[in-house]
Amino acid sequence: MMGRQMQTTVIQVDGSHPDEQLLLPAAVALARGDLVAFPTETVYGLGADALNNQAVARIFQVKGRPPDNPLIVHGADLATLEPLVRQIPPLARLLLEKLSPGPLTLVLRRAAHVPDLVTAGLDTVAVRIPDHPVALSLLRLAGVAVAAPSANRSGRPSPTQAWHVLQDFRERIPYLIDGGPCRYGLESTVVDMTGEQPVILRPGSVTVATIEQLTGLGTLTDAEAAARARTGLERQNAPRAPGMKYRHYAPRAAVFILDAEGVSAATPSCRGSGQPLAAQIAAWQSAGRRIGIFASEATLQQLCLPCQEAGKDSTGSRTDAAADCFSLAYGPCPEAVQASRMLFDALRILDSLGCDIIIAEGLPDDGIGSAYMNRLKKAACPADLQPSGDDYHESETE
Ligand code: TXA
Ligand code: MG
Repeated sequence: MMGRQMQTTVIQVDGSHPDEQLLLPAAVALARGDLVAFPTETVYGLGADALNNQAVARIFQVKGRPPDNPLIVHGADLATLEPLVRQIPPLARLLLEKLSPGPLTLVLRRAAHVPDLVTAGLDTVAVRIPDHPVALSLLRLAGVAVAAPSANRSGRPSPTQAWHVLQDFRERIPYLIDGGPCRYGLESTVVDMTGEQPVILRPGSVTVATIEQLTGLGTLTDAEAAARARTGLERQNAPRAPGMKYRHYAPRAAVFILDAEGVSAATPSCRGSGQPLAAQIAAWQSAGRRIGIFASEATLQQLCLPCQEAGKDSTGSRTDAAADCFSLAYGPCPEAVQASRMLFDALRILDSLGCDIIIAEGLPDDGIGSAYMNRLKKAACPADLQPSGDDYHESETE
């Protein structure tokens, strides 16, 4: 089963007004227990019927996902998701009413019949209503709740375009629905609503400020909630997003963050900390390294480096370009919404151009910027993150 090969049928639809006739075969397959990759407003998901153990098991196999990392269950509406949870506390219901469909996932107490595989044995389940016409049509047509992680091999950058999914899963899944690029480009905000205060398990495009304003409560970070549990201020089984401890979003290249002080990364094997950028780049180039820079046009202009534009419409195919420095701009000025939309795409494009080193622009760590910086820091692999435990090897992909 593990290395099973099959043809992947790619269904092209209009992302804003999908033709249901085109979606139907994938919806039927999904309801029958097959895997279907589909676009959401955040990233592409790899879906399976959430109540079908075998289908869910296949997600873990195909992704190479560690079994202790639970899945988010998607529904077209609250009525689909409500039976999966024990109860929806009033503030959780308020968030769902105000922000769903949207890039928000709530962790709630699970109902008994939700498979342990989905929840990784936790007594909670994560639920979300995606705000994407294709995802909503597919979910309605399939008529089941759908467990769906991001549609990437474990440890790789999340997919925000159909070719990213094919790069990781061609001939490994039966269906991919291509609805164009994803609007947000980063995964949903995950909020644990089982305690007295909301706990932000993963920052996303729904910001902390929005959650605090709507609930009238302060939020806790995962680390704060864990610290409280240790000091006995909260119940012992403090929430954690098990997935957050793994290395994520990693291209083949080593990723460095460009900030006011220069280039930095915690990757022990490629120290560059503190060096002025030009000197650092010169050193890398003379060592024969190919470099990719992801930043705003304004920042690229300021840096004034002799780079070749990588081109936004790359399909991810490797080029023989002789350049040893590529640049990729996400927009005119430093700004988190546009940078977030393009980050994962940029990591894959620069990888496919053969870059050994990717330097990505750091942004202020607040609002949507904190979601962007959270992903970027993980891509840069701080030493305290475990390897993803996946079965992804370079030799297995193109
Ligand atoms: O935007 C998204 O959320 C995308 C699209 C496809 O919906 N999905 C996604 O799924 O990002 P995934 O599996 O890549 O990330 C799910 C995250 C992981 O960090 C996981 O540990 C956490 O949600 N999670 C899932 N169930 C949980 C639970 N019961 N308790 C705590 N964390 C949970
Ligand atoms: Mg993921």
